Amino acid sequence: MDQNRYLEVINRAIEELDLEKEPRGLYEPIRYILDLGGKRIRPVILLMACDIYDGDENAALPAALAVEVFHNFSLIHDDIMDRAPLRRGKPTVHEQWNANTAILSGDTMLVKAYEQLLQLPAHILKPALEIFNRTAAEVCEGQQYDMDFEDRDDVMLDEYLEMIRLKTAVLLGAALKLGGLVANAPEEDLDHLYTLGIETGMVFQLKDDLLDTYGDSVLFGKRQYGDIVANKKTYLYLLTLKSLVGKDREMLARLFANQETDPEVKVRKVLHYFDKVNVKELTERTILEHYRKAQAAFHALQIPDEKKQILSDFTEMLLGRKF
Ligand code: IPE
Ligand code: IPE
Ligand code: MG
Ligand code: MG
Ligand code: MG
Repeated sequence: MDQNRYLEVINRAIEELDLEKEPRGLYEPIRYILDLGGKRIRPVILLMACDIYDGDENAALPAALAVEVFHNFSLIHDDIMDRAPLRRGKPTVHEQWNANTAILSGDTMLVKAYEQLLQLPAHILKPALEIFNRTAAEVCEGQQYDMDFEDRDDVMLDEYLEMIRLKTAVLLGAALKLGGLVANAPEEDLDHLYTLGIETGMVFQLKDDLLDTYGDSVLFGKRQYGDIVANKKTYLYLLTLKSLVGKDREMLARLFANQETDPEVKVRKVLHYFDKVNVKELTERTILEHYRKAQAAFHALQIPDEKKQILSDFTEMLLGRKF
C-alpha cells in the first residue's frame, strides 16, 4: 500500500475523533492542532510496519492515532517551552489562546492517546502499554535535557545526541515497533524495527535543527532561527563551538549565554560563525552517517527485499525533506 493511502486512513480517523465537546475552550485547541495536519510520519510508519508483516490495519489504527495524538500533545507543550510563535505555518496554541489552555488541552490529549491504546486487541495491550509508557517518559526526559542545556555552557556532542534520541527518536522507534507488534512480527524484528526508528529519528531531528537555520521558513512552518534565539544547544551550535578557537569561540559562547542581545543582531553574528566553520555541510555529513545506520537496520529484518525497500524509500524521503 502506498504512503498516501496510509495518510488518508489516518486523516479520516483523526477527523472522526469526537472533539465537539464542552467546554469548547478545552477541546477547540485540540481540534485546531490536529487539523493543522503536519506530516503524520509517526502513524504512517506504524501502519507501514504493520502492513509489511501482513497485519490487520484496523487493529493497528488505534496505536497509530495514539502516537499521533501524543506527538501533537508534545508539540503544544514544546511550543510553550520553546516560546515558539508558529507551528505548521499558523499561530501556536498558546499564542492563539494562552499558556494555561495549551497546558490543559495538551494534558487532555495525553488522556485521549491512552483512550486509543485501550482499543488495541487485548493480547497485545500490555506490551503496547509498556512500549508506549516507556517512550512517553523518555520524551519528557529528553525535553527536560533540552531545557537544561539552554542554561549550560558545557554541553557535549554526546549529551546532545542522547537528548535527541530521547526527545525525538524513541517515538519513531516505538511507532515502528508497535506496528510490528500488532502484526505479530518476530521478536528479533521488533528490536530491529526499534533500532531502525531510532536511527531514522536521529536523522529526523538533526535535519530539524538544520532546517531551523537553513530551511525555507514558509515551507518549514516554524519561526526561522527559533533555536538560536532560544539559546538551543543544537548540533549546529555545538559543532561550531567545537570547531572554533580563541576569541571566536569565546564570542559565540557569549552570544548563547546572554539573554539581552537583540535577536536580529544575535542571529546575524551566530550565522557568521556557523558559516565560518561550514556547519551546514558538517551536519549533513552526520545526518548521512545515521542514515547509513538506518540502512543497516533494514538488512537485519526477516522480510523480503521489496518490503525492505518500502521502509528504505521512506527514510530516504526524510533525508531530503524541506519541511
Ligand atoms: C516536529 O515533528 C518535532 C520534532 C520532533 C522535530 P514533525 O516535523 O514530525 O512535525 P509535524 O507533525 O510534521 O508538524
Ligand atoms: C521537539 O523538538 C521534540 C518534541 C516535541 C518532543 P523541537 O523543539 O526541535 O521541535 P520543533 O522544532 O519545535 O518542531
Ligand atoms: Mg523543543
Ligand atoms: Mg520546539
Ligand atoms: Mg526544532
